Amino acid sequence: MPNPIDRSCLQQRRHQLAELIDDRVLLWSGSAVPRNFAANSFPFRASSHFLYLAGIPLQNAVLGLESGQLTLFMDDPPPEAILWHGPSPSRGDVAALIAAVTHYPLSALPSWAEDAATLPAPTLATRQEQTALLGRTLTEMGQGEQGVLVDPRDRQLAQAMVTLRLQQDQGAIEQLQEAAQVTVAAHLAGMQMSQPQSEAAVRAVIESVFSAHQCSTAYTSIVTVQGEILHHDRYTHSCCPGDLLLVDAGAETPYGWAADVTRTWPVSGQFSATQRHLYEIVLAAHDACIAEAAPGVEFRNLHLLAAHQITSGLVEVGILKGDPEELVERDAHTLFFPHGVGHLLGLDVHDMEDLGDLAGYAPGRQRCDRRGLRYLRLDRPLQPHMLVTIEPGFYQIPALLNDPELRRTYQDCVNWDRLVQFADVRGIRIEDDVLITETGCQILTSALPTTVDEITALLQD
Ligand code: GLY
Ligand code: MN
Ligand code: MN
Repeated sequence: MPNPIDRSCLQQRRHQLAELIDDRVLLWSGSAVPRNFAANSFPFRASSHFLYLAGIPLQNAVLGLESGQLTLFMDDPPPEAILWHGPSPSRGDVAALIAAVTHYPLSALPSWAEDAATLPAPTLATRQEQTALLGRTLTEMGQGEQGVLVDPRDRQLAQAMVTLRLQQDQGAIEQLQEAAQVTVAAHLAGMQMSQPQSEAAVRAVIESVFSAHQCSTAYTSIVTVQGEILHHDRYTHSCCPGDLLLVDAGAETPYGWAADVTRTWPVSGQFSATQRHLYEIVLAAHDACIAEAAPGVEFRNLHLLAAHQITSGLVEVGILKGDPEELVERDAHTLFFPHGVGHLLGLDVHDMEDLGDLAGYAPGRQRCDRRGLRYLRLDRPLQPHMLVTIEPGFYQIPALLNDPELRRTYQDCVNWDRLVQFADVRGIRIEDDVLITETGCQILTSALPTTVDEITALLQD
């Protein structure tokens, strides 16, 4: 189990925040959501903004920040809690652990709340508490929304958190490396199962490695022979010879830091010729993007590079027809690669998407309606210490391929008879976590093989 982020790193973050915002700041951790009744709750996950500044996942706690100094608001556990949960540290102990300068019970919050900036907590119950205390409505922000925070103090805080969290500091990088290592170990364990009988059995092996390292899942694992369902969240199928198994699973460290990794492999241990052709195309796109990833490079250009690589490969194997450049301009590749090539990664798997596109899109930029760009989650120049995923894919999604309008639009671009010959490829994605360095990038998940030869050797082991 990794150590928590050290106190000097947390204190540095608080001082950096104070340089970016003049107002007091209040950040709620949130509380566990009940599963039908209060004594049985879903696993608790603290707000990521809270975790960034507190370092540990406290429940029902609020951070007050002013001039870089931290005040902790939290109640001591009620006396009967010891019966069910064992002894817990006092508020004073917790305050010392996270280097809070002062600490008060939650009842002291109203005297602190005036003029404070905040960010909407992830759960409704906590947002209602925020609204009651601050006298303004705090709503969840959705994809594409940049301006839902109506209060200028909250907007300034959101911008400050984006500025801090975009570039990972040393404490964060150590946590992210740990998440990446555990995730690599888990995928290797899944790949080395002697007989992968079912999606559920592979998922069990992968998630057991997370648990054994005190990690949880950073998002709902995808373990599926139906790789064309992009966020498949059930595990009901057997794994049969001839299937490709797509596994997108990432660990989250006990302090909330995520990995996000996908590998696709043949259940039989050997790719068919058609599976191998398309796998190599996706891998070429993955490798080309990573080779280009460096400070100053526009992430949108990496996405377009992946689109070009995939399109050229599909023209070469005869699935697409025409000039690759023109096909990408017409967004023909989106029939097979409909999503963006990656996103920010950090405390959240799609980092800071609770703030809409404020983190993902550079100031003045907005989501574009164009088919080939609408699902792009990151449109910024890369900076040192940004962590991004690179995750190109190829999918045969019936809802796209059978859509009458898309078939009309792209009828001259696709050799449908040739495509039928690739029926044993439903979905392929290859995803790695890439840390931008001063001069280029480092793949945090590079210990997990990607090439056909390495993967088949692992599967035969
Ligand atoms: N695991 C979700 C994603 O790759 O974005
Ligand atoms: Mn991802
Ligand atoms: Mn993923």
